[in-house]
Amino acid sequence: MEAGERLQKTLARAGYGSRRTCELLISAGRVTVDGRVAVLGNRVDPEAREIRVDGVIAPTSQSAVYYLVNKPAGVVTTASDPQGRATVLDLVNAPVRVFPVGRLDMNTEGLLLVTNDGRLAHLLTHPSSGVPKEYLARVEGDPTPGDLRRLREGVELDDGVTAPAQVSRVSEGLIRIVIHEGRNRQVRRMCAAVGHEVTRLVRTRIGPLSDPTLAPGAARPLTTAEVRRLYEAVGRSDGAASTTISQ
Ligand code: URA
Repeated sequence: MEAGERLQKTLARAGYGSRRTCELLISAGRVTVDGRVAVLGNRVDPEAREIRVDGVIAPTSQSAVYYLVNKPAGVVTTASDPQGRATVLDLVNAPVRVFPVGRLDMNTEGLLLVTNDGRLAHLLTHPSSGVPKEYLARVEGDPTPGDLRRLREGVELDDGVTAPAQVSRVSEGLIRIVIHEGRNRQVRRMCAAVGHEVTRLVRTRIGPLSDPTLAPGAARPLTTAEVRRLYEAVGRSDGAASTTISQ
């Protein structure tokens, strides 16, 4: 840990407050570097070390880039399409090679994260992450309270019963649904299973990320605070418990 920059500088850049505030975090024993409690004076290589604050990974890499994209219908989520259709990466002006985190169906609209941070992508898409994803679904007909209850409690799909979801009726034929899983075409299949085919589907939130001002087809970099909140959302589901600070 001798070479590299001072840990408080790395943390301040990652959005944990001023260098002085970050010194206090370090002295309080709340920061670990590769699983060991850090002390004031530690220097780190932020690209090579895993730094955590209160057990949660701190996004300290300077080479990592993150974009929030508002995918329009008709654009495919894959990184390259053999049929030459527009992909979400065409919407992002990234200076480095990036990839989409998870996927939205071609006809689904809304928020998608694009990054080169493989660790965050893995944590977000891992089935145990449970990060909530919120959708607005325009459906055929008008779901009854019983339909909504079935969607909430779990419906039988060909790959198993769905986990509990938050579901509410916004207006006639329009529902808001929050799921914590990420199965293929899940919302469409859930709604179809209760007799209401989806005619339009928009993802409006990924964990802490939402942005009603982002126009369809637009993309913007995430703020430092948003990246931190994403890491907090995946939290300790990545084995951080084994490095819990005991001081
Ligand atoms: N559920 C779906 O049915 N489609 C998506 O694209 C995302 C979630």
